[in-house]
Amino acid sequence: MGLFIILLVCVIGQVMNGPLPPSIQIKFPGLTKLAGGEETWSPNLRGAPSSITNINPDSDIPMMEGDILIHPRGRSAINCVSCLWPKSADGTVLIPYNLSSGYSQQQVSLFQNSLQEFHTLTCIRFVPRTTEKDFISILSTGGICASFIGRIGGEQQVYLDSGSCMSRGTIQHELEHNVGFFHEQSRSDRDDFVTIMTQFISPDKIGNFDKMDTNNVGLEYDYGSVMHYPGNAFSNTSGQATIVPKPNPSIPIGQRIGLSPLDVSKINRLYQCDDSGLLLNSANGTVTSANYPSTYPNNSTSVWLIRTPSGQVSLQFIAFDVQFSTDCVSDYIKIFDGPSEASPVLLDRTCGMGLIPQLISSTSQMLIEFVSDTSITATGFKATYTAVQCGGAFYAPGKNFTSPGYPAAYSPNMNCIWKITAPAGYKISLTLHDFMMESAPNCKYDSLSIYDGADTSSVLMVKYCGTKSARTFNSTGNAQITVYILSCVRAPNSLFISFIKGF
Ligand SMILES: *[C@@H]1O[C@H](CO)[C@@H](O)[C@H](O)[C@H]1NC(C)=O
Ligand SMILES: *[C@@H]1O[C@H](CO)[C@@H](O)[C@H](O)[C@H]1NC(C)=O
Ligand SMILES: *[C@@H]1O[C@H](CO)[C@@H](O)[C@H](O)[C@H]1NC(C)=O
Ligand SMILES: *[C@@H]1O[C@H](CO)[C@@H](O)[C@H](O)[C@H]1NC(C)=O
Ligand SMILES: *[C@@H]1O[C@H](CO)[C@@H](O)[C@H](O)[C@H]1NC(C)=O
Ligand SMILES: *[C@@H]1O[C@H](CO)[C@@H](O)[C@H](O)[C@H]1NC(C)=O
Ligand SMILES: *[C@@H]1O[C@H](CO)[C@@H](O)[C@H](O)[C@H]1NC(C)=O
Ligand SMILES: [Zn+2]
Repeated sequence: MGLFIILLVCVIGQVMNGPLPPSIQIKFPGLTKLAGGEETWSPNLRGAPSSITNINPDSDIPMMEGDILIHPRGRSAINCVSCLWPKSADGTVLIPYNLSSGYSQQQVSLFQNSLQEFHTLTCIRFVPRTTEKDFISILSTGGICASFIGRIGGEQQVYLDSGSCMSRGTIQHELEHNVGFFHEQSRSDRDDFVTIMTQFISPDKIGNFDKMDTNNVGLEYDYGSVMHYPGNAFSNTSGQATIVPKPNPSIPIGQRIGLSPLDVSKINRLYQCDDSGLLLNSANGTVTSANYPSTYPNNSTSVWLIRTPSGQVSLQFIAFDVQFSTDCVSDYIKIFDGPSEASPVLLDRTCGMGLIPQLISSTSQMLIEFVSDTSITATGFKATYTAVQCGGAFYAPGKNFTSPGYPAAYSPNMNCIWKITAPAGYKISLTLHDFMMESAPNCKYDSLSIYDGADTSSVLMVKYCGTKSARTFNSTGNAQITVYILSCVRAPNSLFISFIKGF
């Protein structure tokens, strides 16, 4: 491997944050007060997401539009009220499921993660089936990804082949068929938005492009829908698209990253759910509290689910002013390291005035919850987010973190920063395990540096490369520590971090 060339492209990153301002009150995740006034940490962990490619092969099972199973009785779905799943008294819509035992543990986690976005943003709840008569039966075999549309009654199969269908976008695509949606390009009004290039579609495949008598719930055509076909779907001529957006043919179509904001709105409209959650799925963007910079409404709860197309979410606050109360029992913001309120807490209840330091989630999903009580309000918050490729910034104790892709070595040219913050009165104890990097004089190619403070201008505790045995570092006074990895050739393997009580 060409060490010199790689060395030239390594850049030192700049860390922007100062220490916590005194006027802001952060309840640290995992820190609980015991009866005797003692405080204790409990660890809070989650797994990494998997990325499996999505294909949708041909099959002998009767289907239309590539992956829609044909119901023996035949009918049109989304325009059919009896094909919707019933709504419970509490406003949720339960869809019982039975998951085949043919998935790996990692695939089961991915499946659960894919359900969370529906649960966080809509009133649909996929629940494990107990004795319900109507349910979806999720099958790991058959070599296909395929579903019925809406509820057909009794047991209905959903094919999610464990070898080819297990990506978040494909799982959500098939589930959305079950919720009641056809493909986006089969909407009744699709001819206003796309041209179907029939000259590149063989006669036996043309049925996949039928237009349906759909209920479009008053919302616009969505090129970015997880229900939209890709441009080359069923093309019989290499290099020729079968679906061309109009008027601009270069509009991207056919993403399978996950639900789009309009997919979410359409589900909420179809089932008349409360619409208090917002999905942000760009690579970067801005989040503000309602009415910002005017005062936010009282007696309200809002959530924002940020899902970047890749990498991890980095959230930087620009303004923060939330009614102060002891332990933030009145108004507060709370941030989760994942797609649901059951995900690990990245930032526990926080209120007051000042700037929260940067936060970086461990995956592409971060959930922000903002709650106001019935009394005083303030201007709220404004934050921007961007996707970053590695690193982390968090407050959670007892958290393990590793180099991306661990235990595999990852690609060179990565600069990763982890920033860990402990409550006042605590120190941070960081243990390095399983350490292996390229060795060089003065660690001039790859290195790991630990700084005793909030950024890389703090006191350098150590700079490492080569192979090292486990070692622990304690921060001094200021309850922040920064770990910086500069990788030109190989990455270190694993780090373990925990907080210890200060003196
Ligand atoms: C779920 O499917 C398995 C077969 O994969 C079956 O043994 C089990 O009885 C089903 N459970 C329910 C609740 O339908
Ligand atoms: C592709 O489809 C068109 C239209 O159905 C047909 O005329 C053509 O022969 C097909 N080409 C190939 C290579 O199958
Ligand atoms: C935000 O994303 C857009 C593309 O979606 C890109 O052009 C732009 O440079 C990004 N801005 C920042 C600040 O990363
Ligand atoms: C708060 O809002 C809920 C509805 O979201 C309403 O039922 C309740 O009465 C409100 N409480 C007050 C004190 O306004
Ligand atoms: C809460 O909001 C409602 C509606 O905006 C308003 O009428 C009411 O005065 C507010 N209550 C308080 C205590 O600010
Ligand atoms: C973190 O990793 C270390 C070393 O592999 C392990 O001993 C420890 O149990 C892990 N901690 C947690 C909270 O998972
Ligand atoms: C770090 O602090 C812990 C707890 O006080 C102590 O046991 C350990 O020896 C310290 N390690 C170093 C390297 O100072
Ligand atoms: Zn489909």
